[in-house]
Amino acid sequence: MASAQHLRDAIRDIPDFPKPGVVFKDITPILSDPSLFKESLELLCQTAQGQKIDKVVGIDARGFIFAAAVADRLNAGFVPVRKQGKLPWQTRQLAYTLEYGESVVEIHEDAVHPGEKVLLVDDLLATGGTAAAAVQLLDGLGADLVAISFLIELGFLNGREKLGDHRIESLIRYD
Ligand code: PRP
Ligand code: ADE
Repeated sequence: MASAQHLRDAIRDIPDFPKPGVVFKDITPILSDPSLFKESLELLCQTAQGQKIDKVVGIDARGFIFAAAVADRLNAGFVPVRKQGKLPWQTRQLAYTLEYGESVVEIHEDAVHPGEKVLLVDDLLATGGTAAAAVQLLDGLGADLVAISFLIELGFLNGREKLGDHRIESLIRYD
């Protein structure tokens, strides 16, 4: 039986990375352990709750690791939300701020069709700037965003407040 406690125990805190004052949650010990990685994917998939998902959207770059594998397990397509300048076709883009900087994300204009059921997956919710940008891009394409699924939520940064009424699930929460 999958348990988020195993995952929590494996996450490493790295103080002052990538900037002073930030405690970085290092998920690489989960990724490198086959049973922990499998557990994380099983739990992330549970967010779909048996609903038919057309597309799983992942956010560049750590989000891709989980979202692509979840898409495969849900028999859904995978759609990347990428950092600026990486997608070759016509894009919609949005600037945003995150816990330790600012950036621009893009999605292909034809990546999601109006009304398609989408599950958005990322490794971590901090201030919510990144996920909110992805949500705005998906709303702009007319996606039916079923839920947003995170491995980790830094609850003390109140990121979910930026995500409106969407259903948000996180496997591991730090308050
Ligand atoms: C990290 C993480 C989330 C985002 C969360 O991405 O993977 O996408 O920060 O922060 P926020 O809630 O404050 O917006 P990062 O931009 O560091 O990219 P990476 O996945 O390439 O490391
Ligand atoms: N992305 C934003 N904040 C983060 C943190 N504290 N640890 C890991 N990834 C992050």
